[in-house]
Amino acid sequence: MSSNRQSFHRVVAIDGPAASGKSSVARELAQRLGFAYVNSGAIYRAITWHILQKGIDAGDSDRVTQTAESAEITCCLQDNESRIFIDNVDPTDYLREDRVNESVSRVSSVPRVRRIVEQKMREYARSHDLVMEGRDIGSVVFPDTPYKFYIVASREVRLRRRAAQGQRDEITMRDHADSSRLVSPLVLAKDAHVIDTSHLTIEGVVSEVVARLKEMGLKVSA
Ligand code: DC
Repeated sequence: MSSNRQSFHRVVAIDGPAASGKSSVARELAQRLGFAYVNSGAIYRAITWHILQKGIDAGDSDRVTQTAESAEITCCLQDNESRIFIDNVDPTDYLREDRVNESVSRVSSVPRVRRIVEQKMREYARSHDLVMEGRDIGSVVFPDTPYKFYIVASREVRLRRRAAQGQRDEITMRDHADSSRLVSPLVLAKDAHVIDTSHLTIEGVVSEVVARLKEMGLKVSA
C-alpha cells in the first residue's frame, strides 16, 4: 500500500466516535490476525497529559504547538501493542484522567499536533502489519488502505459503557468537537464498512470484521 509515495505494511483502520467499542474490537482483531495493535488516541492523550503537566492551557494553540514540537515522543510496540513515552516518562496510567478527557479534543485540533502524530502513526506501518484505531485513520492517515471500518453505537450504549468503566467523559461534547474541527475531523470515509456495535458482543463485531476482510481478499488464518 502507498500513501504520500511511501510504502507501508497492511493496515486495518478502525475509526469511530468515543466509546463506540473501537479499542476492544481493534485489540481483539489484532490478536486474531497476528497484527500489531495501535491506539492512535493514546498518542493525542499523551501529548495532552504532557501539556497539562506543564501547566499550559490546552486552548493556547501556540504554546501547545511549541510544547508538542519540543517534546521527545517515543512510540514503540510492546507485546504487539503500541506504547508511548513522552520526554522519557510513561504516561499510560494518566491517559484516562478526567482532565485529559476534557482537554484532548482541543489539543488534537491543533494542526501541528496532528502532523506530529500522523508521522508517528505512519512510522508504525513501515515495519508492521497493523490494526489501528482512531478518528481519521481511513480518511487521512492511510487513505489508500482498502481495509476500513467505521464502528458506531447508540449514544445510550456509549454512555453506559463509559459509566461502567467508571470514567467521567463528556462523549457528546468530544464527538461534536472531533467531528467539527477544521483539520482531519471525524468523518465516515466513503469506502468504509459501517458496523453498529450497540447490540453485538466484541467477538460478534470481530467476527463480522474478519468475514469482511476475507471477502476483501485479506489472507486471514483465524
Ligand atoms: O480514541 P480516544 O477517545 O482515546 O481519543 C482521544 C481523542 O483523541 C479524541 O477525542 C480525538 C483525538 N483523536 C483524533 O483526533 N484522531 C485520532 N486518530 C485519534 C484520536
